Amino acid sequence: MSELKRVYNFNPGPAVLPLEVLQAAQAELLDYKGTGMSVMEISHRSKEFEGIIQTAEADLRDLLGIPSNYKVMFLQGGATLQFAMVPMNLRAAGASADYIVTGSWSKTAVKEAKKLGAVHIAASTEADGFNCLPGRLDLDPKAAYLHFTSNETIHGVEFFNEPTPPDGVPLVCDASSDFISRPIDVSKYALIYAGAQKNAGPSGVTMVIARDDMIARAPENLPVMLDYKTLAESGSLHNTPPSFAIYIVGLVFKWVKKMGGLAAIEKLNRSKADVIYKAIDESGGFYRGHAKPEARSIMNIPFRLPSEQLEETFAKEAKSAGLIGLKGHRSVGGMRASIYNAMTLEGAQELVKFMKEFQKKNG
Ligand SMILES: Cc1ncc(COP(=O)(O)O)c(C=O)c1O
Repeated sequence: MSELKRVYNFNPGPAVLPLEVLQAAQAELLDYKGTGMSVMEISHRSKEFEGIIQTAEADLRDLLGIPSNYKVMFLQGGATLQFAMVPMNLRAAGASADYIVTGSWSKTAVKEAKKLGAVHIAASTEADGFNCLPGRLDLDPKAAYLHFTSNETIHGVEFFNEPTPPDGVPLVCDASSDFISRPIDVSKYALIYAGAQKNAGPSGVTMVIARDDMIARAPENLPVMLDYKTLAESGSLHNTPPSFAIYIVGLVFKWVKKMGGLAAIEKLNRSKADVIYKAIDESGGFYRGHAKPEARSIMNIPFRLPSEQLEETFAKEAKSAGLIGLKGHRSVGGMRASIYNAMTLEGAQELVKFMKEFQKKNG
């Protein structure tokens, strides 16, 4: 057998997974716990799959400290479908919802919510090029909910303290790119959603954590696959779920627990981000970070070089050095290092080593 070749994968999602998780999946790929079948081949109604989904939920509840009056759902359609499902389920006819816009993803969420009803922009940092967190919020005390994006994957700005909605206004969060990357107080939120493919597993499954009173808001006439009530009541098994993706997500939750839980993971994530931001800050302006220091994401680090030509060369040479996925999103340009949970500190250090050498040659 040829020697295993793994690169340092800085892709924004689908993204790097823990090697241990991939190896565990590989070891039971052909025969899941003596069934003689792969998880891909077993019924979602079997006791084996029931064990997989229930354990995944229990581990997630444990990791995040999810209170008992919240349901956990494993859904399809990506976070993009949640952009529509949230207003469909939570915003009554004629009501308006508040949105905080801090980057491309919250802007997309607004676009979708507007198709179905009224939206009020509580704050937008677009005029600043989405490089900061908002100052004062213009909040509607009657809003159906307040929506924010805890980490903007493209612009690399992250909320470390959640915004405070007016009394009685539920807080809704798109946590797609910082889900389970650090501890949060779930009781401050009414609903959290996140696609798995960054911190929690492969693409194809989206976690939704919703307080019971939010699920009760779902109107009666919704198509069944858009209705939180049916999806929650069926334990995410109204129809055939993305069973293999849920299985991998479950393995990732176990890995995070083994790593010491979310406090330990946050410490590791901060140390990875710190070495990269330090390299940017100490480059004398050769590397320029997109986000203002106080808004810097510890998950996605977009940065520019002195010219587009150098950025092209950087991406090409980094790839040859085994550092892949560093090209930034076209809307921001430049580079972006995505350093989700499964990126090792060694990977971040290798990137910094490469950055320093590149600057020495081209600075
Ligand atoms: C913050 C955020 N929200 C939403 C999405 C869209 O997710 P999906 O492709 O799962 O629909 C992404 C994808 O990168 C994201 O980063």
